[in-house]
Amino acid sequence: MALSTKHLLGIKNLTPNDIELIFQTADNFKEVLKRPIKKVPTLRDTTIVNLFYENSTRTRISFELAEKRLGADTINFATSSSSVSKGETLIDTAQNILAMKVDMVVLRHSASGAPHFLSNHINAAIINAGDGTNEHPTQALLDAYSIREKHKSLKGKKVAIIGDIMHSRVALSNIYCLKKMGAEVTVVGPPTLIPKHIESLGVQVTYNLKEALDWCDVANILRIQLERQNMPLFSSLREYALFYGVNKSLLDSLKKEITIMHPGPINRGVELSSDAADSHHSLILQQVENGVAIRMAVLYLLSGKQEV
Ligand code: CP
Repeated sequence: MALSTKHLLGIKNLTPNDIELIFQTADNFKEVLKRPIKKVPTLRDTTIVNLFYENSTRTRISFELAEKRLGADTINFATSSSSVSKGETLIDTAQNILAMKVDMVVLRHSASGAPHFLSNHINAAIINAGDGTNEHPTQALLDAYSIREKHKSLKGKKVAIIGDIMHSRVALSNIYCLKKMGAEVTVVGPPTLIPKHIESLGVQVTYNLKEALDWCDVANILRIQLERQNMPLFSSLREYALFYGVNKSLLDSLKKEITIMHPGPINRGVELSSDAADSHHSLILQQVENGVAIRMAVLYLLSGKQEV
């Protein structure tokens, strides 16, 4: 079985069969990760560069760990210590790295579309590790995989995506992924943080947090992305926390148990309180754990190698 695509640029162009194949492959790699020796030699002849033009903790470490668990050679690139600071372009940087015989590129970039652009100019498999406000496909895959693991299936599950939908690549990739796999999605947040016409993606919209929490099985709570807001879109963080912050007493007031998720990094006390983030409702650390297996699956499937 193979993916229908040579690159992972976004969830938008994946088929449900692609997503199911990634999940089933990740199931196999989760078994590998439970062994005393958490390594397979599957990508031992493959060299992968992690090109991170934007800060990252989880995604960069998770990709590097996934590559090492698969036996690949890895190179880490951070703009601050590279010739990008001297004005080198993305294509020149990538082509110079590929001249050293690199097979795959994991790219995070602040410009939406940067991985798509690069895929038209270089001859290597590209994996999008987050591009501007566009997509963050491996985050959506690990989120959906974590819901599937906890709730057995995605079909018919009700997922509320809460917060800064406007600036969130995680929101867009999650919407594509969850809808393709048969889940129902409601987005919730202040009107200024919900894009116009988002209903055209097949989601419902509410501005009332309690209504969304009463409805959902899973709440995926997003970070307020102040770095991407060039004008104030709500009056204060305190007011945001009051109307859209999820806390333990709110969760306890619901008539059913729901699962809460967050892609990280969390603004504790803003979109999510510590007592909720660290409660039994939370799937946050399982998301991080599953990220390694999901990224191993994506790397393996795009590498064209045959055996797990
Ligand atoms: N979830 C996520 O993308 O986190 P990082 O920015 O730390 O990679």
